[in-house]
Amino acid sequence: MSLVQISGLKKYFDSVQAVDGVDLEIEQGEFLVILGPSGCGKTTLMRMIAGLEKPTAGRVGIGGADVTALPPRKRGVSMVFQSYALYPHMNVFNNIAFPLRAQRREKKFDKRAIREKVENTARLLEIDMLLDRRPRQLSGGQRQRVAIARAMVTQPAVLLLDEPLSNLDAKLRANARDELKDFQRSSNITAVFVTHDQIEAMGLGDRIVVMSEGKIQQIGTPQQIYDDPANEFVATFLGSPSMNILSGDRYNFGFRPEHFLPKTLNDNPQNARIFHYFVKRVEYLGSDRLVYGYVQGHDSQLTLAKVPSNVRVSLDVDSDYEFAVHNSDIKFFDRRSGIRVAQQNLAEAL
Ligand SMILES: Nc1ncnc2c1ncn2[C@@H]1O[C@H](COP(=O)(O)OP(=O)(O)OP(=O)(O)O)[C@@H](O)[C@H]1O
Ligand SMILES: [Mg+2]
Repeated sequence: MSLVQISGLKKYFDSVQAVDGVDLEIEQGEFLVILGPSGCGKTTLMRMIAGLEKPTAGRVGIGGADVTALPPRKRGVSMVFQSYALYPHMNVFNNIAFPLRAQRREKKFDKRAIREKVENTARLLEIDMLLDRRPRQLSGGQRQRVAIARAMVTQPAVLLLDEPLSNLDAKLRANARDELKDFQRSSNITAVFVTHDQIEAMGLGDRIVVMSEGKIQQIGTPQQIYDDPANEFVATFLGSPSMNILSGDRYNFGFRPEHFLPKTLNDNPQNARIFHYFVKRVEYLGSDRLVYGYVQGHDSQLTLAKVPSNVRVSLDVDSDYEFAVHNSDIKFFDRRSGIRVAQQNLAEAL
């Protein structure tokens, strides 16, 4: 049985439908990422799992028990917030010890137990040499690890992380991401991690939940979400630059810029679709050339190609080329609902 079971979960703030009917099961030891644009309901969903927000409808189960009506401290869940404020006047040791000292009387720990738990957790996160420092004497990445240690020290069944890396610069963020993943693997804790950064989501998640407007759009492994998007929202939300979408009469069809390449490179032309492509602009990005242009018959829609820099064919602006996409890399979407439909014969479908 899954560790966390969420069914029919809703949260309405007056007229705002922040979370609008979420069903989700989270496995023990899983690293689950919730990905979606700002305002789609990620934090609200996490706060309902933690017990900090009362659902309008639906239920949350943890470890087989219905916890919907239980307060946060009885759920075995810890949350690291979007702005993980540490207590500035306390050193690292006391910051981490804080939730242990705050435990209710029946679960109170003595001094020695607290020291042992704090030191073990700090060692796990490799901040055991920093226990005497104040937060302002730490780097951003170290502060973040202290915040995670503080959430971990009570040994929660589930660790909820709400964009904990958002305060870090790009390099620190990549490091912190690696560390977090290693730590999650070695401790086998169940982690739910919220982000609106798709690179972070792809790199960290065993599975990704893509959300939009309070609803789950798709749940799957990073590869499933990327290669097999359930609808146009997911298809265009993941990938940078995002999938080209061109409209036909019955269906929209899409292909990723990295799948849209000069025809001469295509080793299997009978299984590919050829497009006449008028190149307007070329950007050199080092590892790739990013090409902007228009596909014949779709002159109002800017279409991008991402050509690896080891492909040396010349691409001049204001020139016509033949580009190809492998048939299996063309995705079709219902024009009205945006839902992905089975592979179509492009000529017939349009
Ligand atoms: N306490 C509240 N009262 C009223 N509306 C709220 C409240 N909390 C959140 N909302 C609204 O609910 C929606 C979802 O908010 P939420 O914070 O869950 O989004 P999010 O996905 O975490 O966004 P972000 O990526 O910006 O953190 C938003 O439209 C937000 O304005
Ligand atoms: Mg949020």
